[in-house]
Amino acid sequence: MKSLISGMVVVAVMMALLLPAVSSAQALEECQDPPGNNEIAALIVKAVEAVRPILSNGIPELGIPPLDPLGPLPNIAFHIDVPRLRMDGLLNETVVRHISEFIICQLNFTLGITEKLELDIRLEDFRIDGYYDVDGLALSLFPVFGNGNFSLDVYEAAVGGGAKISYNPLSDHASIKDLHLDINFDRLVLVMECILGCGDMSDLINGLIDEIAPVVFDAVWGVIDPILTSALENGINDILKNISISDIITLTQTKEKDIGNGNGFVDLVMESVDSHIVSSGMDPGPVPNATLNFGLGTAALYGGQLSGLSTMHRDGLATIDKVADWVFLYANVAVENLQMEYDAVVKATSEVSGVQISANVERVALYLVARYDLYTNTADIDQFIITEFGKIDVNIEGLGVLGYVLEPLADVVTNLIHEDVANILETTGKEYLQEALNETPWP
Ligand SMILES: *[C@@H]1O[C@H](CO)[C@@H](O)[C@H](O)[C@H]1NC(C)=O
Ligand SMILES: *[C@@H]1O[C@H](CO)[C@@H](O)[C@H](O)[C@H]1NC(C)=O
Ligand SMILES: *[C@@H]1O[C@H](CO)[C@@H](O)[C@H](O)[C@H]1NC(C)=O
Ligand SMILES: *[C@@H]1O[C@H](CO)[C@@H](O)[C@H](O)[C@H]1NC(C)=O
Ligand SMILES: *[C@@H]1O[C@H](CO)[C@@H](O)[C@H](O)[C@H]1NC(C)=O
Repeated sequence: MKSLISGMVVVAVMMALLLPAVSSAQALEECQDPPGNNEIAALIVKAVEAVRPILSNGIPELGIPPLDPLGPLPNIAFHIDVPRLRMDGLLNETVVRHISEFIICQLNFTLGITEKLELDIRLEDFRIDGYYDVDGLALSLFPVFGNGNFSLDVYEAAVGGGAKISYNPLSDHASIKDLHLDINFDRLVLVMECILGCGDMSDLINGLIDEIAPVVFDAVWGVIDPILTSALENGINDILKNISISDIITLTQTKEKDIGNGNGFVDLVMESVDSHIVSSGMDPGPVPNATLNFGLGTAALYGGQLSGLSTMHRDGLATIDKVADWVFLYANVAVENLQMEYDAVVKATSEVSGVQISANVERVALYLVARYDLYTNTADIDQFIITEFGKIDVNIEGLGVLGYVLEPLADVVTNLIHEDVANILETTGKEYLQEALNETPWP
């Protein structure tokens, strides 16, 4: 077969097939003017437009390869198996051109609980070309084969994109992640030079080309989609790195004026947290058993109880700030004089049971950042972290003949108490806080 083709090339003028394969005709919505839905979106649009001239060189610092032309791509295999046609194909030296001639039709940068980026990018005509090699059977009867240059024009493409936005209130910067792109187009025009040996039989191929074009397109898109997605995601994140969100969309004025404006609210929230702690039996509340190795021996701690958790309170000024669709709360909270008690069995040179361990934790302070979405009326805790862990005094009684292990035992008990208290505050304490933030009306 193949040698027959080469023979025919000599005599036949190269035969090109040029046929439209309508694939996803759609009525595209008009583009918006301006394309950005707010000032941040407008900045992103402007910055993306600004990099257009350098797309042919790529942006090596951001790991963005040259995008126009994009390629040559690695060899791309495709396979068609429909009733009219079975075909295996391979593309090589594939290059995508005119990608940089995009238009940003719309870009929505939506803050709030939805936190999403939506993109609508249009490309009037971009071209994929390279070298193809196919072999197949049409209508279970006619061999379809050939190799040569090919080109595939994609007309009126619309690339829709979606990504999640995460906003870090401390750094005041946003970034996007999980960007995905979907492409639709009006028309594909596939030219495969010299298919079937540059000779006749074009009617057969005419009938088949609209089976081939979308498969070739999908195979190529499968390769370029991740390249474009990561270029766009990296590019947009680089732009966002430079934008302090609240500089642009703060609704309230200077912070100084508002310092302390969250005090009343946090007092109510902490009251509610404290009463949740009491009503759910957490003051005093149980602490897990533990077995400690203190070098000279081991101690089994049981019957642990923590008291005082329900005295958590605001510590200093709390501030409320509005950014876009959110209300942010920044506060310090603290709890003092927590009491921990355990019974223990201590084993060293002998075994002593009925050992009494008690401890006092002077103070634990935490920093809280929470956020309330004005649209969905839901609260989220962005941060609830321990910023200060005060002195722990441990008292151990009943060691009897094991009195000599007091010091090493007290050391490991101190570590255990630190861990247990931190853990309880950051899990159980945080759960109660979440409930209280949901239940207390935000200012
Ligand atoms: C592309 O494929 C053709 C036909 O198989 C081959 O002659 C050519 O060397 C290939 N080019 C590359 C860069 O692999
Ligand atoms: C952007 O938001 C507007 C208004 O909510 C909406 O009509 C439009 O479809 C959105 N654009 C994209 C690309 O999702
Ligand atoms: C195929 O494409 C290559 C690269 O564009 C070009 O150099 C070559 O002349 C083309 N071959 C034919 C037969 O047109
Ligand atoms: C970042 O912002 C600074 C100051 O506004 C500006 O000078 C710089 O060019 C910006 N960089 C980028 C990559 O936009
Ligand atoms: C803790 O230890 C005590 C004494 O050994 C035992 O009775 C109790 O069941 C243990 N509790 C758990 C949750 O393992």
